[in-house]
Amino acid sequence: MTAPRHVVVAIDGPAASGKSSTAQWVAQRLSFRHVDSGALYRAATAAQIRRGMPEDDWTEEQVCDAARRVKLVPRGTSFSPMIGGELADEELRGLEVTRHVSRVAAMPRVRAWVNDRVREAARDNDVVVDGRDMGTAVFPDATVKVFLVADPWERARRRLVQQLGRSPADEEIAEETGRLVQRDARDATQTVQAKDAILIDTTFLTQEEQVERIVALVKAVTQRDDTTSAVDDDSEPG
Ligand code: CDP
Repeated sequence: MTAPRHVVVAIDGPAASGKSSTAQWVAQRLSFRHVDSGALYRAATAAQIRRGMPEDDWTEEQVCDAARRVKLVPRGTSFSPMIGGELADEELRGLEVTRHVSRVAAMPRVRAWVNDRVREAARDNDVVVDGRDMGTAVFPDATVKVFLVADPWERARRRLVQQLGRSPADEEIAEETGRLVQRDARDATQTVQAKDAILIDTTFLTQEEQVERIVALVKAVTQRDDTTSAVDDDSEPG
């Protein structure tokens, strides 16, 4: 008998397309676990920043060494990275980490380290994973693949509302749009829409609507798979 195959929902997309919050909500709705691969890249970056070395001298080996202090631990319906045994949510979302993370994420050994951690977390759980390459490099056989996009201005506006807790002015949105588009360019190599991913443009959707669409897609695919395997079972000789 083969081990039961766990469901993997892969949500990819560019910076601030709402992947993590959507993935977390979808995971809650389906009673799956959420794994945020971006948080692991951010944690490796934060661990390296903490070492206080001049950034021009950072090497791949040093960053991999710093990443050894990072552990992915279950927390509610998610997994969270801890650095040296402590949670560092605010540090991970902070400007300094955001400024350096693309450079760290371009290091092949760091990518291999993140991918191993994410696959480990998915081994014993049904999961919703989010990032840039979950549906391509990490889980090419994911049960459902979604690629989230949104207009850059709207992505910048949402990110600022989340960070500032108020409506941002147009000048602030313009500045954030510039930063996001630059990060998209730096992350372009690994931000890949799988050929079999379902594209959802969230520019004019509420978060609730996008969550509902993904939950409906997952239910449709998993119920179809259940029916198919029941038919397969029936057709086996007794
Ligand atoms: O939430 P946001 O879109 O700002 O970014 P994130 O998901 O927290 O990811 C932070 C950074 O990690 C990205 O800018 C990428 O450089 C990198 N990343 C990646 O290369 N591959 C992934 N699967 C996830 C994140």
